[in-house]
Amino acid sequence: MKKSILITGGAGFIGSHVVRLFVTKYPEYRIINLDSLTYAGNLLNLTDIEEAENYHFSKVDIQNESALEKVFNQFQITDVIHLAAESHVDRSITDPLAFVNTNVIGTVNLLNVAKNFWPDKEKHLFYHISTDEVYGSLHDGGFFLESTPYDPQSPYSASKASSDHFVRAYANTYKLRTVISNCSNNYGPNQFPEKLIPLCIHNIKNNRPLPIYGKGENVRDWLFVIDHARAIDDIFHTGKDNETYNIGGFNEWKNIDIVRLLCEIMDKKLGRSPGTSAELITFVKDRAGHDLRYAIDASKIKTELGWEPSLTFEIGIEKTVDWYLENEAWLTGVTSGDYQKYYDKHYG
Ligand code: NAD
Ligand code: TYD
Repeated sequence: MKKSILITGGAGFIGSHVVRLFVTKYPEYRIINLDSLTYAGNLLNLTDIEEAENYHFSKVDIQNESALEKVFNQFQITDVIHLAAESHVDRSITDPLAFVNTNVIGTVNLLNVAKNFWPDKEKHLFYHISTDEVYGSLHDGGFFLESTPYDPQSPYSASKASSDHFVRAYANTYKLRTVISNCSNNYGPNQFPEKLIPLCIHNIKNNRPLPIYGKGENVRDWLFVIDHARAIDDIFHTGKDNETYNIGGFNEWKNIDIVRLLCEIMDKKLGRSPGTSAELITFVKDRAGHDLRYAIDASKIKTELGWEPSLTFEIGIEKTVDWYLENEAWLTGVTSGDYQKYYDKHYG
């Protein structure tokens, strides 16, 4: 094996796309998907590659040091791509400590295990996946650059910012080779239906209200998840040591416009008359401390590594809607006890 790469959070939304890309594109690499399988982690995301010879799954919590050490030893881990995290802002508002435990303490724990396992640190890479939300909220135009000062506003973004700082501190103090990328909002297949886009697709299909926080004027910059996975591949292989790369699609949308677009697309696909699904739009109480606008300047990754999105938003959102409509069983599985039955049968 040329490399033995530990991908944490590989059963989650973005992680599963990264695992699939690496397992299929690099048969010469051993890929170890390490995930504690919270509500957001589902091996159903990876049924198409679970039999691949170079793929292994390990059910471990990143807060558990001795279990991590065992995995590093068993698979002689050469590199880490770290995605495991609590990822939903609303949950971070009701339970901030869960975010500290996984995103901060779990990350430091993983850094410690990697640092101790790799005496020859220059041969190994610790790649930390982060978010543009660490930069705070844009109010007066402009974009987030890699040099934008950190200004996290939610418990989620504060925990991610903290973990980013620890990664940089380990690079400086212990000479761990690291790289960090901060990406904008992702959308696409396999996203847990608590986030805006899959939640709305699911609710439109089932004629349920579409909750829009505040006036729906908040802006997010959306990137198709497979393009994020491609960027991670490029940064892992050609990124410079201890650098930061922002990843984004130059694709800003107000929440209300995105939800209206989803309604239009789904009216057509479900054979409803125009305007039917939009009647489900319901304005609800705003999220506490709701960040107004995120927007990434992704020039550095384009200029230095040649990465850019492969899909337009129009194509990506259509593919996404089709995927959810064609994968009703996945939606039912991840939101019900069916998933537990699948897990017990395969891994129990
Ligand atoms: P997700 O919630 O879909 O998946 C997270 C995964 O981590 C799940 O499989 C979960 O089981 C696992 N996990 C959680 N706690 C764990 C623990 N203590 N030990 C081991 N595994 C654990 O999240 P996602 O949207 O795929 O995000 C993945 C990463 O990308 C996160 O670090 C997130 O901060 C970052 N990110 C996400 C977005 C986005 O739009 N979703 C954008 C930029 C960056
Ligand atoms: P979300 O998908 O939770 O991602 P993030 O908070 O990390 O950006 O939310 C995207 C945007 O949609 C955000 O501005 C909050 C808003 N939102 C709603 O208006 N209604 C909802 O039900 C959800 C989940 C989000």
